[in-house]
Amino acid sequence: MNRTTHVAPKGPVTATHVLSARAVTKSFQIGDRKLEILHGVDLALGRGELVSLMGSSGAGKSTFLHILGLLESPTSGEVFIEGRCAWKLPVQERAAIRNQKLGFVFQFYHLLAELDAVENVLLPAMILHGRGAYLGRRKALREKARSLLAKFGLDHRLEHRPAQLSGGERQRVALARALFLDPPILIADEPTGNLDSATGEKVLELLLTEQKERELTLLLVTHDERIASRCRRVVRMQDGRILSDGDERRA
Ligand SMILES: Nc1ncnc2c1ncn2[C@@H]1O[C@H](COP(=O)(O)OP(=O)(O)OP(=O)(O)O)[C@@H](O)[C@H]1O
Ligand SMILES: [Mg+2]
Repeated sequence: MNRTTHVAPKGPVTATHVLSARAVTKSFQIGDRKLEILHGVDLALGRGELVSLMGSSGAGKSTFLHILGLLESPTSGEVFIEGRCAWKLPVQERAAIRNQKLGFVFQFYHLLAELDAVENVLLPAMILHGRGAYLGRRKALREKARSLLAKFGLDHRLEHRPAQLSGGERQRVALARALFLDPPILIADEPTGNLDSATGEKVLELLLTEQKERELTLLLVTHDERIASRCRRVVRMQDGRILSDGDERRA
C-alpha cells in the first residue's frame, strides 16, 4: 500500500489547486463546554481530481465538507476556491462563488418538498439570476433542466415532487441540481449512503461519469471501501485530523 502520511499542501496555493483548505479548525460551544471538532485540517485538490474522504462516524467529515463547500464558517483557517480566499470575502461574493463554483450533494437529498423535479433543478439558476433575469431566460433554463434530468433517466419524472420519487430518483434530481450551473467542483457527502446497494451503484456510476465528462474536481465522502477504491486518491480522517492522504491502489 502506497499511503503517505498527512500530505498537506505546504507550498503556495496554485491555480492548479481548485479547492484547498488551510489550517481549518472548527469548534462548537455547547453550554460552557467547547467541543473541538477539526484541529487544523489541510487539503488541496487539483482540477479534475477524484478524491474520496473516509473516516469513522464523528471524525468530522461532514463538518469539514460544509466548511469547504462554504455552507458553514470555520473557527479559524481558510478555504481557497480557484485560489480565492473564500471566507475573507464579503458574504455576497462568497454566496456567488458557492453558487457558481460548487455543487453539493447530500446524503438525504435536501430537495424542496413543494417544488417538482424541474423546479428543484432550476433553484441555483433562480438564485444566480434573480427573479427578473430568471423569468427572461426561463424557457432556455427549463429546457436545460429537462435535458439534464432526461440524461439522468428522469424524463418521465419531471413534474414529480420529491415525495413522489424513489430515493435513487431523488438523488439523481439532487445531482442534476448540483450540476445545473456547471460548477468545476462537486462535493458529495455520502451520496449513496441512504440507498440500497443496486440503486446506490447506479447513482455512483452517474456521478463518476459526470466527473469524467466534466473533468470535475470531486470530493466524495463514503464509508464504503469499494467506492473509495474507485478513486485514485483516498484521504482518511480521524478525530478531526487527516490521518493519511494518497493513492492506496496497489501498483
Ligand atoms: N452543530 C454542531 N454542534 C455541536 N456539535 C456538532 C455540530 N455539528 C457536528 N458536531 C459534532 O462534531 C462531530 C463531527 O461530526 P460530523 O457530522 O462532521 O462527523 P462525520 O465524520 O460526518 O460522521 P458521519 O460519518 O456519522 O456522518 C460529532 O461529534 C458531532 O456531534
Ligand atoms: Mg457525516
